[in-house]
Amino acid sequence: MRAEQHTADDVSKFGMGDGTAAGAAPVLDALFRHAGQERVSLHVPGHHGGKSIHRALSPWLGQATRLDATELPGLDNLHQATDCILQSQERTASYYGARATYYSVNGSTACVMAAIHACVRRNRRQVVLLGPCHVSVWRGLAHADALPVWIPSAWWPECQTFYPPRGADLHAVLRDRADVACVVVTSPSYQGFLADIAEMVHIAHEYGVPVIVDEAHGAHLGLTTGLHQHSVQLGADIVVQSPHKTLPCLTQAAWVHVAGDVVDPAQVREALNFLQTTSPSYLLLAALDAAQAWLHGEGPEAASATLARLARYRDPDIHTAQGIKADPMRMWIPTGRLELSLALNDVLVKQGVFLEYADGSGALAIFGFGQPIAELERFFSVYQHWRDANSLELAEPHMDSVGDLYRSVSPDDLVLTPREAWLAPGRLVSLADAVGRPLKRAIAPYPPGVPMLWPGQVVQGHHVERIRALSAAGLTVLGVSDHEQIEVCDDVG
Ligand SMILES: Cc1ncc(COP(=O)(O)O)c(C=O)c1O
Repeated sequence: MRAEQHTADDVSKFGMGDGTAAGAAPVLDALFRHAGQERVSLHVPGHHGGKSIHRALSPWLGQATRLDATELPGLDNLHQATDCILQSQERTASYYGARATYYSVNGSTACVMAAIHACVRRNRRQVVLLGPCHVSVWRGLAHADALPVWIPSAWWPECQTFYPPRGADLHAVLRDRADVACVVVTSPSYQGFLADIAEMVHIAHEYGVPVIVDEAHGAHLGLTTGLHQHSVQLGADIVVQSPHKTLPCLTQAAWVHVAGDVVDPAQVREALNFLQTTSPSYLLLAALDAAQAWLHGEGPEAASATLARLARYRDPDIHTAQGIKADPMRMWIPTGRLELSLALNDVLVKQGVFLEYADGSGALAIFGFGQPIAELERFFSVYQHWRDANSLELAEPHMDSVGDLYRSVSPDDLVLTPREAWLAPGRLVSLADAVGRPLKRAIAPYPPGVPMLWPGQVVQGHHVERIRALSAAGLTVLGVSDHEQIEVCDDVG
């Protein structure tokens, strides 16, 4: 398929053309301008404006290949943004009320790692993990050579997930330690439950400690009154979001906001640069730019309309069960039984409806802005039919079988730091041979996927018994191979 040639006069043909104000999407503007000017591409990427993309893929990508550019004149440079990328980042920062926003083409993963790196100092290496966290936090600890201090959350049996972490738990930990670099908390959770970030920030700031909120699932918060506030509004110092998860955006595209004056934005920017490719995708940057234009433009109205449509099917009170706030754009269906979750999943898939996931804890639906009523109708009618036919009496909360290990872990249990465990050579050994050796990889029964044993922690006899019991009960235990082998650190002398 040959790409057409365009002149600068054709720019309007590529422009947003939807009434979006001039300057509302600076990266898109620059890309459209470039696409209108370029007649011959003698630069990377190798498909040269889409001319040599495989014919099976080409029609799907369409004109998008013409925007898959590189750091050409007028297109700025993510690693030292001064022009259209900077303008777009500034528009995003201003939308959220942040001091600075930086774009990531490596998801929230890179942002979380950068955020931790920006806070850790040689004499301040302890990172308080308030509640369960994503693996990117552990990577951040290893990368920054930081040390974890756990404050585990309690299991919420009726909901088959964890209670949101509590700020009050921070007092004791921060009072006892002078060398805490930051607090990391995830909110909302994958299932959409929100923590009281304002309270956490208030407490942490009493001790002069910054708060990083992993808000990967909450870029849409604050869009309209029906959605809860986002964590910049709630006073957090660094807020990481994955627009690709909850806004109209492309997979992998994320951003990180720095607010207040505790953290120097330049530290976050430099740490993020270090973790990103030197060839960032302009399609992803364009998608981030479009997402911020959407937030400034039709986003609030689209969000209100979507919430109104959802309210036809859902009881709004469900969002404040037990005083815990929940994201109305998610529907977590706790089942406590894999068969039940899979049965729901199967009937939905037969109707062409695909959930985010279904596991032994429950099933998760994530709604999109602008989701037509017909799609909601399709989902809710199947769901209601299934719901009427099945008792959702919850099974014994399986987390209790490992909860004591998750809740009792302490920094004293680690004989190697996260970084030392990461760098140490590893060896697969039988469970019996693992006793007395430090783990290389976390051991996490799935669901819920939260580690009960951490890298650097020494395996003990009762751990092995527990792992065997979990496997015998049919649970998948991440970090344990089919042959009941686990990876330990070798040669750590
Ligand atoms: C809570 C949380 N934080 C961070 C991440 C990493 O986000 P990304 O996929 O954008 O790298 C995820 C991904 O699922 C997540 O669920």
